[in-house]
Order: sequence, then structure tokens, then C-alpha cells
Amino acid sequence: MNNFIFQNPTKLVFGKGQISRLPQLIPAGRKIMVTYGGGSVKANGIYDQVCAALQGMDYIEFWGIEPNPTVETLRKAIAIGKERGIDFLLAVGGGSVLDGTKLIASAMVYDGDPWEIVTQGKASGAIPYASVMTLPATGSEMNSGAVISRTETKEKFAFYTSYPQFSILDPEATYTLPDNQIAAALADIFVHVMEQYLTTTGQSRVMDRWAEGLLMTVIEIAPKIKENRHDYDLMCDFMLTATLALNDFIRMGISEDWATHMIGHELTALHGITHGASLAIVLPGTMKVLREQKKGKILQYGERVWGIDRGTEQERVKAAIEKTEGFFRSLGLDTRLGQAGIGDRTIDEIQARFERLGLSLGEGGNVTGKVAADILRSCK
Ligand code: NZQ
Ligand code: ZN
Repeated sequence: MNNFIFQNPTKLVFGKGQISRLPQLIPAGRKIMVTYGGGSVKANGIYDQVCAALQGMDYIEFWGIEPNPTVETLRKAIAIGKERGIDFLLAVGGGSVLDGTKLIASAMVYDGDPWEIVTQGKASGAIPYASVMTLPATGSEMNSGAVISRTETKEKFAFYTSYPQFSILDPEATYTLPDNQIAAALADIFVHVMEQYLTTTGQSRVMDRWAEGLLMTVIEIAPKIKENRHDYDLMCDFMLTATLALNDFIRMGISEDWATHMIGHELTALHGITHGASLAIVLPGTMKVLREQKKGKILQYGERVWGIDRGTEQERVKAAIEKTEGFFRSLGLDTRLGQAGIGDRTIDEIQARFERLGLSLGEGGNVTGKVAADILRSCK
């Protein structure tokens, strides 16, 4: 195990009716901006609960943070925030609303253009912010990352800032999620765990077992959610698994990959593919192209998560990759570039972008533009 420092300061406030605790959670005397997406919160009662809880507090609303939040929209919120002297932000929505709010919070104490914060990869500070999370997927509710898009250049990059002060997770908020968002969310959670798990063997027993437990939970709950998304305890597991998959808990002292995510972000930036759906296409390709490098861990994953314990090593590796792709298909997601209408031009463009940025990703630092292109070709 590598040395590490762990500190996750976000307070999780979990369960039915917890939105009513907002007045106790937000420090007194703040000038608050509440940020929203396109309106899903009005259909599921979350908006009404937030308004009721904030009664009597000094707040304004900012609407319209879109899926894959853009710097163009966020600049407007930042200008309003600065003009009105906002000193607390509350994001109400999915990962996009919260990620966008992370950029607003960071830009409130930054004088230059907010896109500079994104390209620098790290904010120098931020005003306090918190969330009411309505879509379990990104883990953004309990991590310091955010992913921001720029429409004019079709770019999408992650940056890091402070953690949310608190996040309220009410599983009942998920009852209104449409099928495609649930499928993308389950794929995103699964791949978050894989990015931190599918590297090399023998780094940490406890990190391995924890990651495998989360993967097995996702596999177990996925078909049940299809049957009944109004089962409260089931949606509790869905929501908590998303948080635990990307809140620093399963990456203590171990190496990480993240090449699949970086390639997936390019597919979203260039073609607008939903984040989780992009990962369902790329991950099986990453496993295929890097099968030798990742062999030990793929075998462990195959045996412990899918019960694959027969056949030669090559056969077991192949079976584990097939199980993974089959799982994504069972969610109703496409797993091939062709199904998403993506061909060679995009692959060449992504290779060129990686090369321009001088990227070499993954736990081995060997996923260059050329390897990324090989991965994408294997996803055709
Ligand atoms: O905008 P509204 O009207 O709220 O509708 C949203 C949106 O259209 C809707 N939605 C959210 N909660 C709902 C709901 N619809 C019905 N019922 C509910 N309870 O769902 C749509 C998608 O929302 P979005 O926030 O875009 O989805 P998600 O939470 O999957 O976030 C995706 C974004 O997060 C980034 C992705 O790249 C993408 O930009 N990621 C952020 C990460 C992080 N901060 O750590 C890590 C991830 O790997 C990921 O990259
Ligand atoms: Zn993700």
C-alpha cells in the first residue's frame, strides 16, 4: 500500500424527509444562491420541499444548469453571484447541477475567467456550498471533483475544488428518474469502482474486497430497480452505493486507472453521449486492449464478482470481459461505437486530442493517444 492522507469532510444527511433539515445545516446569516437544472425537481416535489425548508432565509434561485454543465451557462451564474454578494451555494439536482455549482463556488473567489480554473485542474479556493442530490451516479455529493464542458470548443475536463459542506440524499427523489438515466447511473457507478479496482493485484485486501462488494451490489440491485423503482430500501442501496463508489473510501493507498473516463468524456464532448452510456462502450474496450497488463486483476474480478473459476487464463479473461459487456447490455445500454453512430473520424480526433495534450493515462501511464485509439477501435 502507498502512503496516503484521507480526509473527507462532507456531512451526509441521508433518508426520507431530510430536506427539512436545511435551516439547521446552512450557517445563519448567509446570502444563498440555490442552483437547479431544467425542472425535474418540480415534478418530484423536491423543489417544494426545498422552498418550504428555506422559508425566511435570504436566497435567490439560478435555473438552467444543463446535463454536462457548460462554462457558458455557469459564467452567467457567477456574474449574478458576484453582483449579489452570494456567500453560500446550494445545488439541487443531479451531478451536473452540483458540478456546475462547484465551478460557481470556485469562481466566486477567482478574478479570471472560470474556464482557467478548469484547465488548471484545481481551484485555489471556493465559497462554501452543499447539495440536495437527486440522481445517484457521480458521487459528486461527497467528493471534490467536477467535470465542466465548453460548448464552443467541444471540450470537457475535470477539476478539483473543496468538498461539499453537506449533502442531503433522499432516496425518494430517485423515484422519478427515467429508465435511460437509471441505466447510465448504474453504469457510471460500476465504472467508478472499476477505475479504482481493475489495476494490479496485491495492493490491498481491504480495498479489493470493498470494491468487489460495491460491484456485486450494483449487479444485484440493477434488475430489481427495473422491476420496481419505488422500493425505498432498494433505492437507498442505489443511492449509497453511488456515494461510496467515488468518495475516496475505496482508493486509499492504491493505484487508479481513469483512462476509460477520459476517453468517455471525449465521446460526450464530441457527440453529446450521456456520461454513463459512454463508459458502457469504452470499458469493455479498455479491458480487451489492456488484458495482458490487467490480467491478474481481471482474473480476480471474474472469479470473485462473476464466479468464473473454470477454463484457461485466457478463457477466463475473455469470459470476464463478456460478462461486463453483457451487464451493460442488460441495463439497456449500447456497448458498441457503431450503435451510437460513431466511426473512425471520431477515433482519429480523440487520438489527436490526446496527443496534443501529451496524455498518457491509466495506472501504467501508457494509455497514449494511440492506445486510446486502439481501445476505441476495439469498441466498434
Ligand atoms: O436538469 P434536470 O431537469 O434536473 O433533469 C436531470 C437531467 O436532465 C435529470 N434528473 C436528475 N435527477 C432527476 C432527474 N430526472 C428525474 N428525476 C430525478 N430525480 O437527469 C438528467 C441528467 O442529470 P445529470 O445531472 O446530467 O446526470 P448525472 O448525475 O449522471 O451527472 C452527469 C455529469 O456528472 C459528471 C459527468 O461527466 C456529467 O457531466 N461526472 C461528475 C463526477 C464527479 N463530480 O465526481 C464524476 C463522474 O465520473 C462524472 O464524470
Ligand atoms: Zn463517471
